[in-house]
Amino acid sequence: MVRHYLSVTDFTAAETLVLLQRAHTLKAAWHAQQQQEFPLRGQTLALVFEKPSLRTRVAFEAGMTQLGGHASYLAANDIDMGGRESVADVARNLSRWVQAIAARVFKHQTILQLACFASVPVINALSDVEHPCQALADMLTLYEHRPALHTTTLAYVGDGNNVCHSLMLIGALLGVQVRVACPPDYRPHPDVVEQAQQFAAAHGQQLSITAVPEEAVAGADAVYTDVWASMGQEHEAARRRPVFAAYQVNQPLLRHARPDALVMHCLPAHRGEEITAEVIDGPQSVVFEQAENRLHVQKALLLTLLELAAASQSSH
Ligand code: CP
Ligand code: NVA
Repeated sequence: MVRHYLSVTDFTAAETLVLLQRAHTLKAAWHAQQQQEFPLRGQTLALVFEKPSLRTRVAFEAGMTQLGGHASYLAANDIDMGGRESVADVARNLSRWVQAIAARVFKHQTILQLACFASVPVINALSDVEHPCQALADMLTLYEHRPALHTTTLAYVGDGNNVCHSLMLIGALLGVQVRVACPPDYRPHPDVVEQAQQFAAAHGQQLSITAVPEEAVAGADAVYTDVWASMGQEHEAARRRPVFAAYQVNQPLLRHARPDALVMHCLPAHRGEEITAEVIDGPQSVVFEQAENRLHVQKALLLTLLELAAASQSSH
């Protein structure tokens, strides 16, 4: 059975920690300019992207180059997945040429279908339900600043979207105390909340969801936000602005957190909307560390999934 990474829940807590440790080691080697051998020499990653991307795309492309392999970027117009050709056929064709597929899709169902028909590992590079690669980078960043994850509180303020879902799940999985503040009509999906609650309970914790940002942020070690309208929801942006206005991460809200609280954002950011320029560009912000860590976690993820795929092939 090929292992995919469609959700942060596809790896156990132990597997996730090993992956983060591997990313940490890769990062250290990269900073020391100790280029190791090229373990992915001759291997290709297909990037099937239905939406724009800076961080995810470049981190995968640069990551493959650094590991000795190659990434082939396929934009929506190039293959028109589901139009020119069915998702199933795209998956079956790509599996004949490449060793892994990373896909950024509108509907989560599309990535499930890709994984169903691919015989190589599929990575979720963002869907409407999850953004697991981002969540891995966020946990690495948090761990670097607050190594005792079990005693760390992370507050997410804003839209209960894909980024919020993956963050809740991975945080709860690793024992981080997660608190979420969203407008009542923009809460995370109840199924995701329930699953995250179960992970939290395993650590003797409780995930909290509130409509009051100050409640979520009180005494937090990190305050995280994301755009109010995600890709594909641009037409809702004007309608959402007044609903989310009270959820802006600004200096008065940040004062409720610990004085040294980290400020986190997956980027791209809309300064003056979900976060003020003063806060995102201020001394507590780690947003570019999060962005850098995309490279290290995605390299670790590629190595891990390709090793697992090779091991499962050799056992047949
Ligand atoms: N954070 C993130 O995934 O950025 P991109 O949309 O630029 O890939
Ligand atoms: N929630 C945002 C994240 C972008 C990285 C979106 O889906 O557009």
